[in-house]
Amino acid sequence: MSVLKKQDKEIFDIIESEFNRQNDYLELIASENFTSKAVLETAGSVLTNKYAEGYPGKRYYGGCIHVDEAENLAIERAKKLFKAKYANVQPHSGSSANMGVYMAYLEPGDCIMGLDLSHGGHLTHGSKVSFSGQIYTAITFEVKKDSGLVDFDDLLQKAKEFKPKIIICGASAYPRTVEFEKFREVADKVGAVLHGDICHNSGIIAAEMHPSPFPYCHVVSTSTHKSLRGPRGGMILLGEDYENTLGKVAPKSGRVKMMSELIDSAVMPGIQGGPLMHIIAAKAVAFKEALEPSFKSYIKNVLDNAQCFADEFKNKGYNLVSDGTDTHLVLIDLQNKNISGKAAEIALDEAGITVNKNMVPFDPKSPFITSGIRIGSPAMTTRGMGVDEVKVVVDLIDQVIMNHDNKDKINTVRSSVNELCSIFPIYEKDS
Ligand SMILES: Cc1ncc(COP(=O)(O)O)c(C=O)c1O
Repeated sequence: MSVLKKQDKEIFDIIESEFNRQNDYLELIASENFTSKAVLETAGSVLTNKYAEGYPGKRYYGGCIHVDEAENLAIERAKKLFKAKYANVQPHSGSSANMGVYMAYLEPGDCIMGLDLSHGGHLTHGSKVSFSGQIYTAITFEVKKDSGLVDFDDLLQKAKEFKPKIIICGASAYPRTVEFEKFREVADKVGAVLHGDICHNSGIIAAEMHPSPFPYCHVVSTSTHKSLRGPRGGMILLGEDYENTLGKVAPKSGRVKMMSELIDSAVMPGIQGGPLMHIIAAKAVAFKEALEPSFKSYIKNVLDNAQCFADEFKNKGYNLVSDGTDTHLVLIDLQNKNISGKAAEIALDEAGITVNKNMVPFDPKSPFITSGIRIGSPAMTTRGMGVDEVKVVVDLIDQVIMNHDNKDKINTVRSSVNELCSIFPIYEKDS
């Protein structure tokens, strides 16, 4: 019998219920995925018991011999995967990774520039409700109304006017390729550091099916749990030229510190204490998986599935922001379907299909209601679903959206979702 079940039946039951929910619902949230059992096992290992403030070979605690080995492996694999020169694998999340970047490069009050939240950007790119918009002066750029693509004229004009120290490229709800080279041109024109936040696309970049942020970005941050399919966490990377990126002068010694040093101290002790060694080891496991050829096949399927979502939704008269996708996600503008993003999210949830409401560019509705939904393919692809299943799923989503007040219809869709999910369990039974 499970130890947890004996000791804490309440939490055991909650975990069991969540397992069943993940298994029985169709997960289409673009930022979610199912890790391998090996990653799960590592994340639940004795490494969680170890305090290891500092970095491998330079810890504030004894007994770090084995966690040093784990962190070094994670660093080496991360560098290999992204062709980077430096990796800090300690950030607890994508947000912490961004905070670490800003701490290393900026002083409070400095200007940062990122894609507007309502145009697909992330809270940590300068939203007033996040530390990023409270500690720093945030200016946002937008996408073009006609194409849904980044408006580089708007970006350049604002960059010239506000002279940001950092320009952030990468987003949470941007279905198209991030044009790192074009962002770098703008950054160079105003002397800004280019920060690539590849949280969403990192798996696609690792599989070399999206352009690399290097050599264009001076610094790169990512979460590890989205398309990359690792444990919940973050990391910061520097490319080949990091030694040439200007660091800051240390106030006491007058020595110019390298960016790698500044990032290390920004992450710990700047914003974090002890690293989560069980998660860092689980990141190492996920990076090993992502280095294998099978990960490339997985990402190819993720992209094929997303493309199929785009084509099928368009065939049914849905409007997509940017008219399609190059990545793992599509952003549906529901304004011609007479339903808000919030109502669609609720009705789909009742039918066993999990999506998130999402603002669309120039959205007339509030962030709590929204005019859109975001749909991503990574999680369903991990459980083995392909384009045949995507076609079925689009049909089911359409039935719910067109009949969102009809409980009988929603119940019928729920049965079809159950049937589909039972064919593709999230974890195979132990042999
Ligand atoms: C572009 C981007 N940056 C940062 C984050 C923050 O990551 P986390 O939720 O791990 O803090 C996200 C998460 O959705 C994101 O999409």
